Amino acid sequence: MNLKGLDKGRLPGHVAIIMDGNGRWARLRGKGRIEGHRRGRASVRAVVEMSRKLGIPYLSLYAFSTENWLRPKDEVHALMGLLEHYLTVEQPKMMRHGIRLLAIGDRSRLPVPVLQTLEHAVEATQHNKGMTVLLALSYSGRDDIVRMVQRIARKVKEGVCAVEDIKEEMVSAHMETKSIPDPDLLIRTSGEMRISNFFLWQIPYTELYITPALWPDFREAEYLEALLEFQRRRRRFGRTDEQIAQPLRSVGRNR
Ligand code: FPP
Repeated sequence: MNLKGLDKGRLPGHVAIIMDGNGRWARLRGKGRIEGHRRGRASVRAVVEMSRKLGIPYLSLYAFSTENWLRPKDEVHALMGLLEHYLTVEQPKMMRHGIRLLAIGDRSRLPVPVLQTLEHAVEATQHNKGMTVLLALSYSGRDDIVRMVQRIARKVKEGVCAVEDIKEEMVSAHMETKSIPDPDLLIRTSGEMRISNFFLWQIPYTELYITPALWPDFREAEYLEALLEFQRRRRRFGRTDEQIAQPLRSVGRNR
């Protein structure tokens, strides 16, 4: 595809996406919501493929939030089915392309066949050295923070560490995202101006990009536009313009 002036040397190291608007996409076409999710799955394929080709090391996808369990049963069931199908069909491709799959969220709530397929895909791809795709499933940012507090509190209680040892790095290391850098770019489709309980701790200096495009319409051209916009941003990480040479990616682990 024509990359329209994209600078391959200044790509984000980690892109996170809130995939929104499947239902509206379907409604606009007089179709059921599930058809919107089905089309949304094709957009997932498109962004994974393009990230891989560009060499973006980390891509996080908010596929199912803790709150999404409250949706009508048939929609939850259909989403789980789509996810299971996606994981089954894509696994050989992930192996071929060296993609490592990770999952975060409360997996204990997933239906057993989905959980088994997910665990199988995570295990099979664990040594792949290409890009990492992180699926947030039954995930919420606050839940992630609550569990981090519990883990650290347990360590303090057991005398493994002291209260004074609790620093930013330690907090990061006890989040579900402990092994991956903070996102440089967070994309949200369908125009809503909110984070919807996705990453909370992980996005202090993440660039936000909100597009009116509905998720099923978010394909290569829309992704390219988001990346071009990222490259137009000037990231200061709290410093002044004069202090900044040009780093677009995060400086250090958390900034
Ligand atoms: C938001 O649209 C989307 C979701 C809740 C689910 C995202 C799922 C997919 C893209 C399909 C399967 C996922 C993978 C990883 C293969 P919405 O239903 O909230 O849309 P609306 O706000 O217009 O109603």
